[in-house]
Formats: sequence, structure tokens, C-alpha cells
Amino acid sequence: MSQAFFPAVRMRRARVSGWSRALVAENVLTPSDLIWPLFVTSGEAVEEPVASLPGVSRWSVDRLIDRAREARDLRIPCIALFPNTPPSLRTEDGREALNPDNLMCRAIRAVKDAVPEIGILTDVALDPYTAHGHDGLVDAAGYVLNDETSALLVEQALVQANAGADIVAPSDMMDGRVAAIRAMLEREGHRNVQIMAYSAKYASAFYGPFRDAVGSRGLLKGDKRGYQMDFANAEEALREVALDLAEGADSVMVKPGLPYLDIVRRVKERFEVPVFAYQVSGEYAMIETMVAAGGGDRDALVLETLMAFKRAGCSGVLTYHAAHAARLLG
Ligand code: PBG
Repeated sequence: MSQAFFPAVRMRRARVSGWSRALVAENVLTPSDLIWPLFVTSGEAVEEPVASLPGVSRWSVDRLIDRAREARDLRIPCIALFPNTPPSLRTEDGREALNPDNLMCRAIRAVKDAVPEIGILTDVALDPYTAHGHDGLVDAAGYVLNDETSALLVEQALVQANAGADIVAPSDMMDGRVAAIRAMLEREGHRNVQIMAYSAKYASAFYGPFRDAVGSRGLLKGDKRGYQMDFANAEEALREVALDLAEGADSVMVKPGLPYLDIVRRVKERFEVPVFAYQVSGEYAMIETMVAAGGGDRDALVLETLMAFKRAGCSGVLTYHAAHAARLLG
């Protein structure tokens, strides 16, 4: 530690000019830090704007391919897919999740075919497929069943991997599902399919617009506090991460993002593995609402918030602003 102080030390010397700020910058943000979540819907040539996510749409598979090309051209390495399942296919047991020809699998195959260079991350959870909007099977008492759900998630991850998913990302918070999915991937010859575990996923009020986008908002009975984490807790997140890594996760995720950067930092320091964060739908909407109200500049807000994730220790960020940010970063 330097002992010198003012005026020998003037911290502002390094800040006065742009070239100097660039020279001493401790972190960099590039398009390769970004994962772009995209919503998929049925039909052809469809773009459906999501009301609570201004600037975000659901795309039919043919239009999704254009977004994948756009991502590739912007040097975004990976996209994350989320289906809006037609209401008629949503059931108590979410069995459409296991259909190898469901919207998700058709989207994966189409993107793999048209844009093989891009990575595809898929969400493993039942909520876009269940009539009650929960991530798993619900018993008569309203309890979300753990082991029974986990068995279905294994099958869901298998149909996704068979369709060409590169990273399966269980987002359901059931216990033991990472080990079960890893065993299945090894058994089925999917040795290089990665698992990005939503390890520290909090029961958050910031997911509202997402549930709109996948059509589960009006359906959801109760809340998800019986399986997602309590936002009062941090040490519990470290246990979750330790378990998911022991079970075979390649990388871990903290979610939501900005309100949970303390968790990102602690996970990074403790485990030295790739850590990702999800700047979730409500966080995106907060920025867009502020911009719409004339309270701030979108470009500046996007770059500042994304750099905050890098500073906290993230390898990458899932963000609905990915394409916009990549364009800014040029
Ligand atoms: C569902 C899932 C959710 C999100 C990603 N996967 C919502 C939830 O748990 O209710 C939220 C993403 C966002 O808000 O942008 N398994």
C-alpha cells in the first residue's frame, strides 16, 4: 500500500483525459460477455411485442433465425431461448416440455441448422408448459414435488440436448437435478453439453414481465418461495453453488442481477468458476421506464449496468439489452 497522500497523490490525474481513463480501466465489456435471451412463439413471420417489456418481442421460429444471425454478426456468442407455449398445450404435468417436436426443440434445430456458429442455451423448467405456471409438478396440497419434477427435467433436458442445445440451464431450483441431468447427459452420449445451473435463483418480484412474455403470469397460483431462494439469504447461495458444482455444473448463475451483485462477488471469490448473472426482465423494464420518463440515457444506463456485472466478477451476463449493447460496443 502506498503511503503517499495529497498533493503527491492526486487521484484525478488519471481521470482527466480519455486516453488515460482507457489505460487504467480495470475491466472491459465486450459483446462476448453477453447472452441474449429470446422468446419464441408459434406461427410464421410473427413478431409479437411484449407489453411489459418495451422493445422486446416474441418471434416465430423463422424470425428467430434472423435474430440468431443478428447475434452472430454482432459477435454475441450465445442466445437463450424461452418458449411461449400455446395455452391448449399447457397441462397440469407440463408434458409438452418432453415433446421432441415442441416449439423449443423446433427452434433449437432451426437455429442450429441456419447459424451453427452460435451457442444455444435452453431453460430447463416446466413453467412455460404447466397450466398452473409453476416450475414443477404440484400435488393436491399445492406443494411443488421435488424428485418427481427432477425426473421430468431430466427428460426435458434430454429432448433439448437431442435437438442441439449446447448449454442446458436448469432454472427450477429443485434439489438434486444437476446430478440427475449430468448422469443422463453422460449416459446418452452428450458429453460436451454444458450445464449452467441457475444455482442462486431468488424468489423475486423482478420476474413479472418475463412471466408475461412466456404467458404464465395470469396462470401462476401462489408464489415460488417454496423452491426459489429467500432474498434475505446469502450464505445459502454459497451452499447452493457448492452443491451444483459437486453435482456437475460447468458454470453457475446468480439471478436476478444488479440487486444481487454481492452474491456474484462472494461466489466468484469462493469458487473460482465461471459465474453468470441474469439481468432479468424487471431490471430491463426499470431502465426502459426511466428512459421513457425522460430520466436518463439508455446507452449510458446499459453500459454502466453491464460493466457493473463485470466488475463484480461475472464471466457474462444474460440481458435483454444484449443486441443494443453489442451495437454500442461495436
Ligand atoms: C422460469 C424462469 C423465470 C425466468 C427465467 N426462467 C421466471 C420465474 O422463475 O418465474 C425469469 C427471467 C426474467 O425475469 O427475465 N423457470
